[in-house]
Amino acid sequence: MAWQLRGRTAVVTGASSGIGEATARQLASAGMHVYAVARRGERLEQLAAGHERIVAHVADVTDTAAVDALADRVRAEQGACHALINNAGVGGGPFVGRGDLDDVMRTLDVNLNGVFRCLASFADLLEASAPSRVVNVASVAGKVGIGPAGYAASKFAVVGLSEALHLSWAERGITVSQVNPGFIETEGFAQDQIKRSPLSGILGQPEDVARAIAETLVRGDAERTVPRAYRGVVVLRHLLAPAYRTVASRMDRAGGSRR
Ligand SMILES: NC(=O)c1ccc[n+]([C@@H]2O[C@H](COP(=O)([O-])OP(=O)(O)OC[C@H]3O[C@@H](n4cnc5c(N)ncnc54)[C@H](OP(=O)(O)O)[C@@H]3O)[C@@H](O)[C@H]2O)c1
Repeated sequence: MAWQLRGRTAVVTGASSGIGEATARQLASAGMHVYAVARRGERLEQLAAGHERIVAHVADVTDTAAVDALADRVRAEQGACHALINNAGVGGGPFVGRGDLDDVMRTLDVNLNGVFRCLASFADLLEASAPSRVVNVASVAGKVGIGPAGYAASKFAVVGLSEALHLSWAERGITVSQVNPGFIETEGFAQDQIKRSPLSGILGQPEDVARAIAETLVRGDAERTVPRAYRGVVVLRHLLAPAYRTVASRMDRAGGSRR
């Protein structure tokens, strides 16, 4: 039987804008009780004001105590967490040398360590709420190494941990999935250059990813690439490395992520 959204509790990190905000709205509209998490409290309050099933919670995913406090709150108020959407993330800049090291470390701390912090704080509650779901928002850049190196490294790592936990947490009743967006127009990822490139047609919207996340929760798929147009490059990467390099280099130039 399909996993039901209605009446269940979800936590969405990075919900103050873009994909996370769209996901919080979509899950709440489908009947879930949603904890919308990010650092910008005002944005979260605006989001929560528009929907009775959305609760604003300010937390920084680089702060272990703050993530523990979030899990404690959800346990105390709901007694369960059925879905954790690890979506908070930053783009980071290009890696050229010593001057970029702090930026790379920050990117890894949010995009990778932040996912581990949330998984660690929620693991017991997710298990107690089984059958439960985790959706990690990685990226097509976690499948094909394009864009800023620190960002790609963080997303490759999220893909790896998602694959490993999809296997090892299944026996705990927790389905861990990855959703990998291509270029999506959001506040943090304005996509100005790709809008002007021949690849502008493959630009997606946050709502496309939110829909894919909701479907992934229901179906428990291991992996999803969104929009669909990006699936080809992921397959190419694994089956036809030289052809993949040509397409990846074109995508990289179109995305404008170089110096
Ligand atoms: N847009 C794309 O093209 C694209 C493609 C592939 C993957 N993704 C991934 O999708 C996810 C969402 O990105 P987006 O495109 O929706 O960008 P966005 O609009 O900039 O959203 C990023 C969200 O992450 C939150 N965040 C950042 N640092 C945080 C921290 N330390 N603690 C808690 N929350 C934090 C931000 O909120 P606050 O600033 O309020 O904390 C914001 O809500 C990211 O993981 C990104 O890597 C995006």
